[in-house]
Amino acid sequence: MKNKNKAVWGGRFKNSTSKIFEQIGSSIDIDKRLYEEDILGSVVHTQMLIKQKIIKKEKGLKIIKGLKKIEIEIKKNRFKFRKKYEDIHLNIEKRLFSIIGEDAGYLHVARSRNDQVVTDFKIWLKKSSEKIVKNLDILIKNFLKKSNENIHTIMPGFTHLKNAQPISFAHYLLAYVEMFKRDQKRFNNNIDYINECPLGVGALAGTSYKIDRNFTSKKLGFKKPTANSIDTVSDRDFALDFLSSSSICAMHISRLAEEIIIWNSDIFRLIKLNDKMLTGSSIMPQKKNPDPAELIRGRTGKNFGLLQSMLTIMKGLPLSYYKDMQEDKAIVFDSYDTILGSIIIANELVKNIKPNKERMLFLSNQGFTTATDFADYLVQNHDLSFRAAYKISAKLINYAEKNKKTLNQLSFREVLKVKNNLNKNVMNVFDVKNSVNLKTSYGGTSTKNIKKMISRLRKEFK
Ligand code: ARG
Repeated sequence: MKNKNKAVWGGRFKNSTSKIFEQIGSSIDIDKRLYEEDILGSVVHTQMLIKQKIIKKEKGLKIIKGLKKIEIEIKKNRFKFRKKYEDIHLNIEKRLFSIIGEDAGYLHVARSRNDQVVTDFKIWLKKSSEKIVKNLDILIKNFLKKSNENIHTIMPGFTHLKNAQPISFAHYLLAYVEMFKRDQKRFNNNIDYINECPLGVGALAGTSYKIDRNFTSKKLGFKKPTANSIDTVSDRDFALDFLSSSSICAMHISRLAEEIIIWNSDIFRLIKLNDKMLTGSSIMPQKKNPDPAELIRGRTGKNFGLLQSMLTIMKGLPLSYYKDMQEDKAIVFDSYDTILGSIIIANELVKNIKPNKERMLFLSNQGFTTATDFADYLVQNHDLSFRAAYKISAKLINYAEKNKKTLNQLSFREVLKVKNNLNKNVMNVFDVKNSVNLKTSYGGTSTKNIKKMISRLRKEFK
């Protein structure tokens, strides 16, 4: 009987895999993205096989030459990816057979696709996480630049979206610097976790060949080989780490985007966006819409969903490898493309924000934002408890509200109505600039603090 199955496992099969499953089960359209990592892994694996005298040197060199040729073919778009060969690993192996003949069969000595795929994927994730870290660096630097230009820009700080206390716009921007710094740290920590090399664990049990896993680990840029062969082919924590860090970073970006959208609204008018970051309407000629900010806010949903998908795929899966896990690449690649794009757009947005300084100052006097400063003044100068001072301040707000005045519009005589033995210098507390500069506690919004923080961060992000 003629064997119809042309797969590497064809010898055991009477029939070819169904064409229907070939269409859906093939991952080549997705994992061809790993071709460089796959070829690198194969070259290093072959070098190790030669070094350990597991295969003959001339056969090994032939394999390496063939692999390099394939790499060039793929780079030059001359490689024909075939669905019937399932994935990038088998596409390359099949092509190697057609270039160098039967000696290609020695490449898979002491290796399984199970360790091969995790090796490729980890190398790719390390590189891609580094790229995200780099882009977060650019984003942070632009935040610092904007902060430096706005140390003296006063705006209302919000809680519950109600005016709370005056702050510096720079201080607000620096809050995002802290978030993106932590995101960076998360991606860097992930790189540390990824740093164990899977290659050489075989299908799940290890191998009887005298391989040198330290050699391949080092050559592929890992710190050390993984310690347990079963865990190695089962583990996708590293993908989940990436998806989770991407989700948290996307969440930060979506908060930034949301604030930009609100502040740019006709109601708030706290900032203006450069036309570069706006689009028009097909029907309403007056419109300038903050589409880029909206898009990155929305794409956060994708990052969250992808994390959820991967968690669900892994949940309850027995050890070790199952085809379920093949979906990991599509999920992680999508998450990566999404978060990277969002970081790049966030960066453009930050560069193109112009604060409406007059409006910010005007609004920072609305909503009695210095009420707490007045209470603090009473505690500090009149030997009152904070709760007692709070009551007096509340009285003043009620008076100002009734008389339709902001706190800085009150006269000294009016202030005396709520407490009679005050010094005239009390009037300074209603000045928003003064209020900002009184917040000298570590991490507070005073100009002095901000300047120090910016110079410290600038040294960190040179
Ligand atoms: N394309 C497969 C994946 O990404 C490679 C591993 C295949 N291993 C196997 N035992 N079928 O999951």
